Amino acid sequence: MHFTDVSGVGEGAVFLIRGEANILFEAGMAYAAAPMVEKIKKELGGGRVDAVLLSHSHYDHVSGLPAVRRAWPDVKVYASEKAGEILKKPSALETIRRLSGEAAEAAGLFWDPDYRDADLQVDETLEDGETVRIGDHEVHAFATIGHTRDSFSYIIDGELMLCSETVGVMGPKGGYMPSFLVDYLGAEESIRRSRAYPVKEIILNHHGPVRERDRARIWDFLQKKLTESREIMLGVMNEHSSDDEALKELERIFHSHVDKKEQPDEAFYINAASMMRTLRRQFPERLLRKA
Ligand SMILES: [Fe+2]
Repeated sequence: MHFTDVSGVGEGAVFLIRGEANILFEAGMAYAAAPMVEKIKKELGGGRVDAVLLSHSHYDHVSGLPAVRRAWPDVKVYASEKAGEILKKPSALETIRRLSGEAAEAAGLFWDPDYRDADLQVDETLEDGETVRIGDHEVHAFATIGHTRDSFSYIIDGELMLCSETVGVMGPKGGYMPSFLVDYLGAEESIRRSRAYPVKEIILNHHGPVRERDRARIWDFLQKKLTESREIMLGVMNEHSSDDEALKELERIFHSHVDKKEQPDEAFYINAASMMRTLRRQFPERLLRKA
């Protein structure tokens, strides 16, 4: 299957799957939207984008949509029902707009001047396990709850799996970042579900295609990393007398090697605090102190 990384800035953010119908996986950041659209136009040479599949409704995955809709007004955006609901909420749209603006500023990049909240809606919501036809492609959607409650992964034509962040996040240059913000057990279940599909190729979110030689053991690897990071986090939470101190230590362990433009410290702290709450809820017996 023909697919290309069309991220506007950096790599691993947005992928174009070609065919009679052309499908984007994710829409990326608002500040990366203009160069992304240029890249796609170059790839398609006059062709159009027919659909966008969103893995979830976080700002760094959806805020490129206004630019995509401007370039290809007939495009249809697909996501989970839950993502569709979230993207109707004025408070969510407000947060996405604010974070996208802050990210543009932090990156020193131009903010999409024609950004409209109304362009962030989902046109076709999908149910867990639903299969839809998009032109010549068959798209199977399945829930991968864990990073968020609205996370979906997709399989194109039974061959190519597009993963949400729930199964694990590796940067474009490697390095693992735990990302079970709302559900650790859901992340384990999502790895089990994903493993059960015998696909030929796998694209990991924020990373890219899994190399052929790594494919056979990718699910074992992601499960091992997930368990390891849970154990590290529980250990750090038990070793420190406050969550603030635990967060600082977690930043040192997981985030000190990360490009702060890709993920600012504040975003890491918000995510890590969320994972700590999740562990407290799902593994209360492993923790020595309450919040
Ligand atoms: Fe996310």
